Amino acid sequence: MKFYIKTFGCQMNVHDSRRIEEILSNAGHVATNEPGDAQIALVNSCTIRQKPWHKAISETGRLRKGKISGRDKQLLVGLVGCVAQQEGDNIFDLLSHVDFVVSPDNYSQLPGIIDNLLKEKTQIAVTGFSEGRAEDFLSIERVAQGEVTAFVTIMKGCQERCKYCIVPTVRGPERHRGAEQILHEIRNLVASGVKEITLLGQKVNAYQADGLRFSDLLKMIDEVAGLERLRFTSPHPRHMTPDVTDCFGQLRTLCEAIHLPVQSGSNATLKRMGRRYTREDYLAVVARLKQACPEISISTDLIIGYPGETEAEFEQTLSLIEEVGYSAAFSFKFSPRPFTPAGKLDDDVSEEEKSRRLANVHALVNQQEKSFRDNLRNSVLEVLVEGEGRMDRQLTGRARNYQIVNFVSAQSINEMVGKLVNVRVTEVHPNSLEGELV
Ligand code: 5AD
Ligand code: SF4
Repeated sequence: MKFYIKTFGCQMNVHDSRRIEEILSNAGHVATNEPGDAQIALVNSCTIRQKPWHKAISETGRLRKGKISGRDKQLLVGLVGCVAQQEGDNIFDLLSHVDFVVSPDNYSQLPGIIDNLLKEKTQIAVTGFSEGRAEDFLSIERVAQGEVTAFVTIMKGCQERCKYCIVPTVRGPERHRGAEQILHEIRNLVASGVKEITLLGQKVNAYQADGLRFSDLLKMIDEVAGLERLRFTSPHPRHMTPDVTDCFGQLRTLCEAIHLPVQSGSNATLKRMGRRYTREDYLAVVARLKQACPEISISTDLIIGYPGETEAEFEQTLSLIEEVGYSAAFSFKFSPRPFTPAGKLDDDVSEEEKSRRLANVHALVNQQEKSFRDNLRNSVLEVLVEGEGRMDRQLTGRARNYQIVNFVSAQSINEMVGKLVNVRVTEVHPNSLEGELV
């Protein structure tokens, strides 16, 4: 049967959708990009804030429309991902048009669940967490199918329990993969054409297995012959110990870019959030990173209008942004989540005030992003060619600092994809750079 997957949320979800694709393909099903052609439609959902939760819920209805109403065998609609774990079979009360609900630790059961639903008109929910080591269901023998970048999960789950965050509830306790398995998978990917690996984990730099720390793992991966670039996401500032920060500028493959969520610049707010670091701790990590690697590009996440956030506390966030100088920052209004301690607090910063603060942050961040890119004008960047650009004869890729760079090439995409080329930046656009081959 043909299946279609719509993916919302973070890179972990994007990677999970690949795993689902592999599991269903191995069971004889065929992926399609056309929801209209599919007999199985899956929504891989995110619940980090109310908005993505809502989007996922409406998507299940959108996919069901146009088919015979209610449950039918022409189309099975499934909800997977974080909302699946959050809601479990409760979702059937809200969404009678959904046939199955399967959470991330249970994707290997999808083929059996689908078989059962084809035999019997019922609704099935499989949720809960697996124990022990983190397994990546993408076979570790997997090979690249033309792509030059790949994600590799090294740990899953999170038990940090930041007060606002639903991730520990929907992704379960921390489980780590063995280093040998990770390395085996990376070697296979590299042998089949992958040049850049991004290590994934909800608290990626808290990695530990068999007495190895995260920095040990980075060093082992750095030695894989043929690997050109290494990235990871998302780290927690509390685990950015000197052995990790020192890897920047030292390891050949580790790129000069890091996404380091800060959430707030106010010690009082950080404390209420349960982040377990201070503004000073965070700034010390940033200083060490800049010392190890002066050209490093730092991006972040911010929560605006956390319960009890005063004007003075908010101004601390603005001043921290000023102090760090980000290449990008993603800011979100606080959104109360079920099962979280902050979800029970009085959401006392008004919607208007949240909007005003968010606009202030956007203005400052836009200015910083622009100046980061302006400073790259005329510089020569190493670009990993990933695909065709928007314009005629244009190719696109990313620099080590994660900026998208477009350039014109006489050579075809087939000749160029996966190559590292040097590009001089000639134009700076709002979301990308443009340049010429040198
Ligand atoms: N409200 C608003 N933003 C949140 N994030 C996580 N939980 C919430 C919430 N309840 C943001 C954080 C995190 C990013 C992925 O989403 O900034 O780093
Ligand atoms: Fe969203 Fe968190 Fe789930 Fe990623 S892990 S999809 S951010 S809720």
